[in-house]
Amino acid sequence: MGVEIRVEGLTKSFGRQTIWQDVSLTLPAGEISVLLGPSGTGKSVFLKSLVGLLKPDRGHIWVGDRDLPRLPEAQLYDTRKLFGVLFQDGALFGSMNLYDNIAFPLREHTKKSEGEVKRIVMEKMEMVGLLGAEKKLPGEISGGMKKRAGLARALVLDPEILLVDEPDSGLDPVRTAYLNQLIVDLNSQINATFLIVTHDINTARTVPDNIGLLFRRELVMFGPREMLLSSEEPVVRQFLNARKVGPIGMSEEKDVSELEAEAKMGHDPGRLPPIPPQLMPSDGRVRPTQHAPGGWCAAHGVVPPPGSFIDDLGRNWVEEWPRYVAAMSPVGGGPAPGGFGQAGGGRPGAGAAP
Ligand SMILES: Nc1ncnc2c1ncn2[C@@H]1O[C@H](COP(=O)(O)OP(=O)(O)O)[C@@H](O)[C@H]1O
Ligand SMILES: [Mg+2]
Repeated sequence: MGVEIRVEGLTKSFGRQTIWQDVSLTLPAGEISVLLGPSGTGKSVFLKSLVGLLKPDRGHIWVGDRDLPRLPEAQLYDTRKLFGVLFQDGALFGSMNLYDNIAFPLREHTKKSEGEVKRIVMEKMEMVGLLGAEKKLPGEISGGMKKRAGLARALVLDPEILLVDEPDSGLDPVRTAYLNQLIVDLNSQINATFLIVTHDINTARTVPDNIGLLFRRELVMFGPREMLLSSEEPVVRQFLNARKVGPIGMSEEKDVSELEAEAKMGHDPGRLPPIPPQLMPSDGRVRPTQHAPGGWCAAHGVVPPPGSFIDDLGRNWVEEWPRYVAAMSPVGGGPAPGGFGQAGGGRPGAGAAP
């Protein structure tokens, strides 16, 4: 079911350069969280710290009752097996075909027979849509396929925690949409705890259950998707809406004169755009850890921006949700016949009449 990760007061510096300080957040078990931030704010450093590849200066990373930075080497090695990681560059071995690349962790870390290895590799290749590409070399395939292969390799040891660094970097918008759908589908199937690093705003707005934002060496905010998408906090609002007006400038921070000029021009951050419905698994099922649309807003007395939670067909997902959940959870499980959401592009129920 995935495990919770609790980060407390984490600080990391290289020499005199503090990358971020006092970062605290909880990745809820089984949920999808996204970590956002301008380039160079230390998102990759954060992922590497989580898996113990970099040692933080201060703070805790609790996985169950184990505090990673304080584990003896042997226990750290064991705990790392809970993690599947897809780094930014994919890091496939160029001289190995996809099958051998994906089999690598199994051959390295387990004593499984080649028969078992084959069963697992083929299962994961099917999950990421790569069946038939076993013999291909990394140099012969597209960027999107490389990411899929990296994902399959991150999945072979059945991780409780999946960390993915910029799955969308270098991909076109359509490939990114497919990859986002794959991430949601994988979460629905394996129920691990996911942390995705990205700077793609659309990914951040539609994929996760939770969003965090790193800026100016701090975690500005971390919480449920609806909390950040309805937030008036200037940095959060500027970043999640990809605006020029706000504290973030061309080279990370605007200086005082730029901000003053902006204020004189009467630049207004404007109204918040609607909160989009969350991407659903392509079989239309509700993920076990999925939050009800509008749930956070309702529980916190926040009125979401006008037009929120309405899909491309004009359906309001706050109103539809109870009916949808009931229709998708018949006794014995499985999608209800003729019901909602037959894989219609991933938005809740897109393509099906209510
Ligand atoms: N091993 C390292 N040694 C020294 N500095 C590093 C190291 N890794 C990253 N950095 C620095 O940490 C900062 C954050 O890097 P990174 O995590 O890659 O940013 P992001 O992933 O958010 O774009 C950068 O200034 C980078 O140069
Ligand atoms: Mg990075």
